[in-house]
This record gives sequence, C-alpha cells and structure tokens, in this order.
Amino acid sequence: MIVVTAPTGDIGHQVLANLLKSPTPVRVIARDPSRIAPEALARVEVVQGSHRDPKVVDRGFAGADAVFWLLPPDFQAASAESAYVDFSRPACEAIQRHHVKRVVGISALGRGLAVANKAGLVTASLAMDDLIASTGVNFRALTMPSFMESLLNQVPSIKAQGVFFSPIAGDHKAPSCATGDIAAVAAQLLLDSSWTGQKEVPVLGPEDLSFNDMAAIMSEVLGKPVRFQQIPPEAFKARVTSFGASDAMAQAMLDMMMAKNNGLDNGVVRTKETSTPTTFRQWCQEVLKAAVQG
Ligand SMILES: NC(=O)c1ccc[n+]([C@@H]2O[C@H](COP(=O)([O-])OP(=O)(O)OC[C@H]3O[C@@H](n4cnc5c(N)ncnc54)[C@H](OP(=O)(O)O)[C@@H]3O)[C@@H](O)[C@H]2O)c1
Repeated sequence: MIVVTAPTGDIGHQVLANLLKSPTPVRVIARDPSRIAPEALARVEVVQGSHRDPKVVDRGFAGADAVFWLLPPDFQAASAESAYVDFSRPACEAIQRHHVKRVVGISALGRGLAVANKAGLVTASLAMDDLIASTGVNFRALTMPSFMESLLNQVPSIKAQGVFFSPIAGDHKAPSCATGDIAAVAAQLLLDSSWTGQKEVPVLGPEDLSFNDMAAIMSEVLGKPVRFQQIPPEAFKARVTSFGASDAMAQAMLDMMMAKNNGLDNGVVRTKETSTPTTFRQWCQEVLKAAVQG
C-alpha cells in the first residue's frame, strides 16, 4: 500500500497519476476528495481529513508500505518552524507506530551550506526532514531549487506589463525544475521497494538559468517582450504580505530568497542522476503560454 498526502496539489496529483499506471494499491489522504480527478478517485482508497491531524494520519498510515509526504504551504502560519515541523509531528509518530517502511518527502536544496541556517522556509523544510529521519524510517528527501511553476504567481504582471519580479539579482544563475519531473522521480522511488537508509535526492532540472535568461526565453515563446525586474528586499516582503501572508512567513520567504541570492541552490553538481528533462523553454511552451493566453 502506497499512501499519498496532498493528492490535489500540483506535485501530488501528478504523483498519483504516475502511481496509478501500476497495479499497486494506493490510499490518499485528502481534505476534499471531490478535488481528485474522478478516474483517479475511482481507483484509490480515501482517508478524508488533513495530514496534520493525528487521527487522520493514524488511519491513513495503518498498513502503509510507503508514504509520499508533502508539507502544504501555509502562508498564515505563526512561524516557518511551526508550519513545517509542528505540522509533521503527528505524521512522524504515526510512521513509527505503524512501522511504515519508506517515506519519500518533498524538500529543498541547501543542506550543509552556511546560508541554509537563515534561509526561512528552506531552513524549516530541512528541520522537518531531520524530524522525519529521527523516526528511523527509510527516507528519501527530494531536494529542489525553485519550481518553474512558482512563476505562475506572476502571470498577471507578465500578461499586463510584460514584467516579473524577485529580490534575486537578474544575472544570478541557478537550477529550476518542473513539478512534473519531481512527481516522476517521487513515483519511481515510491514504487521501488529495494532501497533502504536515508538520503537526499536532488532534482535539479536540466540547466542553470538567470532571471534575465528566463525573460529572454519567455519573450521568444510568448512572442512579446518580457523583462525581469529586481526589487528591494523590503518591497518583496511588502508584496508577499499584501497577498495575505503573516509577517513571520513573509520574512521567512524573504530570508529564503536572500539565501538563494547567496548560493543556496548552487551547492549540488548536476550529474546524470540529479538532472531532470524538462527545459525552461519547454515548460514555457507547455504551461506558461497557456496560462498567459488563458
Ligand atoms: N515552490 C517552490 O519553488 C518550492 C521549492 C522547493 C520545495 N517546495 C515545497 O513544495 C511544497 C509545495 O508543493 P506544491 O506546489 O505541489 O503544493 P500545492 O500545489 O500548493 O498543493 C498543496 C496541497 O496541500 C493541500 N493542503 C493545503 N492546506 C492543507 C492543510 N492544512 N492540511 C492538509 N492538506 C492541505 C492542498 O489540498 P486541498 O487544498 O485540496 O486540501 C494541496 O493538495 C511545499 O512543501 C514547499 O516547501 C517548493
């Protein structure tokens, strides 16, 4: 039995679709199962509720061989630590109680780098991984740079003014990956019962690009000029707060961005194993173009 948390999310629904290509039984934990595609819903066992709830994970993890663990973003949280680590405590207790064999989790790049100590959401994500690892479960933490999909938040300004923003320098090159590739790696690990121990699995995408490089590619694919504009840290934080984030979570996002600007995502060498196929150009053609033209 493979258990999938957050099956309605961007990564989660793609993990589920990949798993359902095999005959392995799948159980999902979902607050609102009606948000799952009907053809997938018909083939899975459902435990309704949040994977933060001790009773829900207790039912959800009973008899589980493997768990896909994804921490939902909570921009109203009192702190990043509580959003990531406190949310995950009931699940870690249930992993031990039910002797779950393997966990594949969604996390972030940066472990071992000094900048990761004050990297907001990423510092909290790595602390969550430590908590999961402390259960002793066989564990693969998928460690990602920024997702290409993060740019979808900026579709309104790309559409209206041909501009997107970040506090990161326009010429800073870094990896980025597509959520479809993350889901493929996760599903492959969940279906493979041969691995043991605890390791990070970096998912780096195929190339390092700066925001200026991305703007040039977007301009070509969208057939209209798109430029990148670096904004001051305080303007970034104000922008995130204006979208409804708590002060603590806006600061945690800013700390993450400043750490990325200082090399948080640049510490792992791309190899055949850490590279994933979707290029930024392909993602713009397949995802961004439809979002901007929609
Ligand atoms: N964006 C990046 O660049 C980046 C980089 C590295 C790592 N990450 C990590 O990636 C993860 C986000 O993945 P994603 O983009 O696939 O997420 P997403 O699309 O925002 O999906 C979030 C999922 O969580 C569920 N959810 C929301 N609040 C919940 C709650 N209180 N209890 C239970 N379920 C809840 C949602 O389901 P319903 O609303 O249907 O219940 C949905 O299935 C985060 O852990 C983040 O730290 C992100």
